[in-house]
Amino acid sequence: MMTRRETNIGLISSAAVVAAGNVASAQGAKAIDLPPPRSQGGKPLIEALRLRRSIRAYAPQPLPPQVLSDLLWAAFGINRPASGDRTAPYWRHVMVIDVFAAMSDGVWLYEPKAHRLLPYLQGDIRARTGTQDFVATAPLNLVYVAHGERMGDIPAEDRRLYASVDTGFIGQNVYLFCASEGLATVFRAALDYGQLARTMELGAGQFVTFAQTVGYPA
Ligand SMILES: Cc1cc2nc3c(=O)[nH]c(=O)nc-3n(C[C@H](O)[C@H](O)[C@H](O)COP(=O)(O)O)c2cc1C
Repeated sequence: MMTRRETNIGLISSAAVVAAGNVASAQGAKAIDLPPPRSQGGKPLIEALRLRRSIRAYAPQPLPPQVLSDLLWAAFGINRPASGDRTAPYWRHVMVIDVFAAMSDGVWLYEPKAHRLLPYLQGDIRARTGTQDFVATAPLNLVYVAHGERMGDIPAEDRRLYASVDTGFIGQNVYLFCASEGLATVFRAALDYGQLARTMELGAGQFVTFAQTVGYPA
């Protein structure tokens, strides 16, 4: 019988395989290697907590590669390379949540192991990541997708519960990073879940938990 960690290692590698299945629709787009995340800097935690807030007005300018790199690492990157474990805790040590980045040039899947973005879908789907106007023009909308099929034999409502908790931790990492860096962000549930799942061509068992907009304050 596989241990939980062995099971998880299999799931981590399957994330890339699942992504690769959809990469076909990205029609030739190449993976983007992100610069290594900074290992120092940022505001002290207490100051970031003081500054944390939701912001709903965004400037259109894109995030520089280093900022995107640091943001994704803070969100759900690997902070213990030996084990592959992450900056956020996760249910039963099973890798359920994938972080997608919807930007003007398409949808990208964050692949923490290689710290890179895998092309997932071509086209600008930002307007479909939420029902609020700012999502269409903010430079980045993170879409958190759960692989319910990896959660084993538990009731559907429990799948959503644990996947939502996993996502909440990631979302708070993003909030604190943004507070530290002077970025704007808001965690969001106001979205058309069915439409977004269809747009993202999600597979059986997969579902969107939440989305989160990130950018510079307007
Ligand atoms: C589960 C959840 C869903 C949320 N959904 C939305 C949303 O769809 N749109 C939005 O503008 N804010 C959304 N928010 C942000 C909350 O409105 C916000 O955190 C709350 O008003 C407190 O404000 P603060 O974050 O500035 O402290 C959501 C927050 C949570 C935790």
